[in-house]
Amino acid sequence: MAQVKKIPVSVAPHSEEESLAQKIWGLDWRQHFPKTLTADISVDRITAQEAWPLILNLFPEVYQRDATENRFGDEEAPEAKKRYYEALGDFFVFKDQAKRQQVVGMAIGTLLDWSSYNFRNIAVHPEYQNLGLYPLFFDYLATVMKAHGLRRIEGDVAPSNQHHLHVLNKMGCVVSSLAYSERWGVLLHMTRYLHEEDRERNARMFSMTASSDIAAMKPTGKK
Ligand SMILES: CC(C)(COP(=O)(O)OP(=O)(O)OC[C@H]1O[C@@H](n2cnc3c(N)ncnc32)[C@H](O)[C@@H]1OP(=O)(O)O)[C@@H](O)C(=O)NCCC(=O)NCCS
Repeated sequence: MAQVKKIPVSVAPHSEEESLAQKIWGLDWRQHFPKTLTADISVDRITAQEAWPLILNLFPEVYQRDATENRFGDEEAPEAKKRYYEALGDFFVFKDQAKRQQVVGMAIGTLLDWSSYNFRNIAVHPEYQNLGLYPLFFDYLATVMKAHGLRRIEGDVAPSNQHHLHVLNKMGCVVSSLAYSERWGVLLHMTRYLHEEDRERNARMFSMTASSDIAAMKPTGKK
């Protein structure tokens, strides 16, 4: 398998500017990151400016295509898109301590509304997939967000992405809508409820199998 490319990570210190998450939820990312995920892997939050060069290196290896290629034509306003992410984006990098802090994954999110977070992207380098890094990070993020009053984390996944769907399902995310567009193609919209009562309410309102759905949500342990 191909070697993981060396990616510069000597990034500038975090901006002292208050993030939107802090303004809206009082969530000071600096209190929660960096976070150790496993013996070797930690995750840290970085600025958009720090993230751009890392993305250009990481994404082609993860998606196995050019990072800028897009079948669906989300081409409009690239400068505005950049400014949007610089103003609103949260960028989290996974680093391997055993390999001199090499960047081996990235997650990107933005606020969706006053009680919801939009988990926009996750990219784990192929050599670091199937180690449970994404669920470890996602569960930690969910715990931090729940403690700050958020109700849900939402995101989109292509129905053909079986690996991602499998992990989302294991992490307790449920399909909350189906979307299709000229920008992104077909996507399943997934929601992780941070409060069980919301998940139960959703199941009761919209599912013919609500009772068994809800029973299946309760952890019973393996027999
Ligand atoms: C999808 C992705 C985010 C998952 O992250 P990860 O850290 O590898 O997640 P995990 O380590 O939990 O994955 C392991 C689980 O997936 C399962 N899995 C692996 N490949 C699979 C596949 N092709 N189909 C279904 N399940 C698969 C494993 O069996 C394991 O399941 P288990 O926990 O029940 O034993 C990561 O692989 C990735 O970055 N993929 C490429 C980019 C991408 O698709 N990003 C999402 C779109 S934005």
